[in-house]
Amino acid sequence: LEAFFAPKQLVGEHVLVTAGPTFEAIDPVRGITNLSSGKMGFAIARAARAAGAEVVLVAGPVHQPTPRGVRRIDVVSAQDMLAAVQQEAEAATVFVATAAVADWRPARSATQKIKKDGSGEVPSLGFVENPDILASVARSARARDGQLYCVGFAAESEDLLAHARAKRERKGVPLLVGNIGPATFGRDDNALLLVDADGHRELPRASKQALAQQLVAEIATRLRHTRS
Ligand code: CTP
Ligand code: CA
Repeated sequence: LEAFFAPKQLVGEHVLVTAGPTFEAIDPVRGITNLSSGKMGFAIARAARAAGAEVVLVAGPVHQPTPRGVRRIDVVSAQDMLAAVQQEAEAATVFVATAAVADWRPARSATQKIKKDGSGEVPSLGFVENPDILASVARSARARDGQLYCVGFAAESEDLLAHARAKRERKGVPLLVGNIGPATFGRDDNALLLVDADGHRELPRASKQALAQQLVAEIATRLRHTRS
């Protein structure tokens, strides 16, 4: 029903969404991840589909049903997510990065389970930085030519507006969406702060699905402006 009544604001668009956490292996049975549920990204994929777009959803390890009509690609690590996104971005006209990509991964992933050796010594893990998926897509020729509209998300624990503005500049994206606290991970509701070149506006607290629909409308408006 939702899909039937939704205004078809994104007909002809190809929307690529990342969602959920990534999982960075330490050994075959362990790894580091975070508490992202994927709810916001899945809600955006559903809303974009309802608005008439073709939608590809690149999802980290989450427990969410695939929205009807959405093509889903499951990935585990940030490097897997980058590879899937780079391939899918070639045909996309909109990229919405909601994934909570692990900032670092273990420098080495052991091929066999790491065992205690009985001495009480603990393994020491070195880390390396993961690639910035959003920034790499935003730097691509199609994004810089205006053929691929990029939207970033930011979860901050303090000073949201200042951090969101700085992150928007640093990532080189036209629209950066901040999660207004309290911590959004796993919740069904959220409130969003939209930051673009013209300033900022708030989408007040609502269900993630309602916010996703509003965000899709905001993106559609901005697409019309960049296209005209
Ligand atoms: N992002 C990404 N790849 C990464 C890190 C982040 O694509 N390796 C994307 C996220 O999906 C989000 C945006 O970049 O859309 C901002 O993510 P965030 O974690 O808030 O920013 P970081 O640049 O990682 O900075 P920090 O975590 O230190 O605040
Ligand atoms: Ca981060």
